[in-house]
Amino acid sequence: MINFQLVTDDTYWVGGSDRRLALFENLFPLTDGVSYNSYLILDEKTALFDTADISISDQFMENLHAALNGRKLDYLVILHMEPDHCSQIGAVAALFPEVTLVGNVKTFTFLHQFFPELDTLSRVTVKEGETFSTGKHIFHFVMAPMVHWPEAMMAFDEATGTLFSADAFGTFGAIDAGIFADNYDYERQFLDEARRYYANIVGKYGMQVQMVLKKAAGLQIRNICSLHGPVWRKNIGYLLEKYEKWSTYTPEDDETVVFYGSLYGHTASAAEAAAAELQKKNGGMVRVYDVSKTHASYLISEVWRCRKIVLFCPTYNNGLYLPMEALLHDMAALGVKNRVFALAENGTWAPVSGKLMAEQLSALKDVQILSPVLTIKSALHAQDQEALEAFAKAVAEA
Ligand code: FEO
Repeated sequence: MINFQLVTDDTYWVGGSDRRLALFENLFPLTDGVSYNSYLILDEKTALFDTADISISDQFMENLHAALNGRKLDYLVILHMEPDHCSQIGAVAALFPEVTLVGNVKTFTFLHQFFPELDTLSRVTVKEGETFSTGKHIFHFVMAPMVHWPEAMMAFDEATGTLFSADAFGTFGAIDAGIFADNYDYERQFLDEARRYYANIVGKYGMQVQMVLKKAAGLQIRNICSLHGPVWRKNIGYLLEKYEKWSTYTPEDDETVVFYGSLYGHTASAAEAAAAELQKKNGGMVRVYDVSKTHASYLISEVWRCRKIVLFCPTYNNGLYLPMEALLHDMAALGVKNRVFALAENGTWAPVSGKLMAEQLSALKDVQILSPVLTIKSALHAQDQEALEAFAKAVAEA
């Protein structure tokens, strides 16, 4: 079914959504699918900004055909070479063999690695600050290395104030009837998924995101066209403010989150009791998650959102309970910083998980690890109440 939509002057969305995909990157659970956006410029010359994932190839090619309405494609601008956006380059080139590819040096290195058969296509290589014109529209290229691959770049259309931002400002979640963020209650429908997308996909590269945000600050941006999720044309400051916080590892909310691992429920019970104490002392929301039950990508998203993180972990084989160890590993891999941690351990004969968690967390930058560790022997009992309250008080006051 043809569904292409006008974004702004001469600029059309020709993407689509995949609602069947269970795991993005075969890793991150999707509950509401994901969109793969592609944008077509119909100017004196025609230019396509990125293609789409193979899962929506029919939808994408139908939209492209319909929007071109018999015109040929002059340029294919490749902002990002990850396969969720480049899988259809060969199909597009097969239809328009005279198309000129536009990319940077790294783009073409990766293009060759994925599609050596496309080496014969004509190409224009661009660098930071260079421009490219389709007629009325002049596009300025902004390199965005590691947001989220090294070749990633953005393009800014002076005429319409549109930033084609590659993965940046994207989100998990299919696009429904409207392609604009203001067609939705974004905070309710997309914000959690936008944060989860940012934290897990781009979170490690906060410094690189900061560099791009500084460059973007000099542009009069009126629209943001990301490769995933809705297009922004109103209240862009809202999204930029979120990115400023996320990329500087600044907690979005001054809230506490409790993560626990539990084999038989005793550590869970202690964590729930601690959360209740925290709520009494701190007010506000204290969310509780079972690390065995909730996928780590959601937990990481909560780490990005909250300032204080409380970890309850059983000792397992004289080490850490594996799902908790995996979460700590994920935090280190993504460069989490600027957080307060409180640690609680459980063990029936030799609890060591508090010490082991502290060792792992001490490798993170700008973190405060509260002491002492709360130690539980097998299960929480009435005689532990005083220690539990002291633990909650320390977290509340941190
Ligand atoms: Fe949506 Fe980094 O690709």
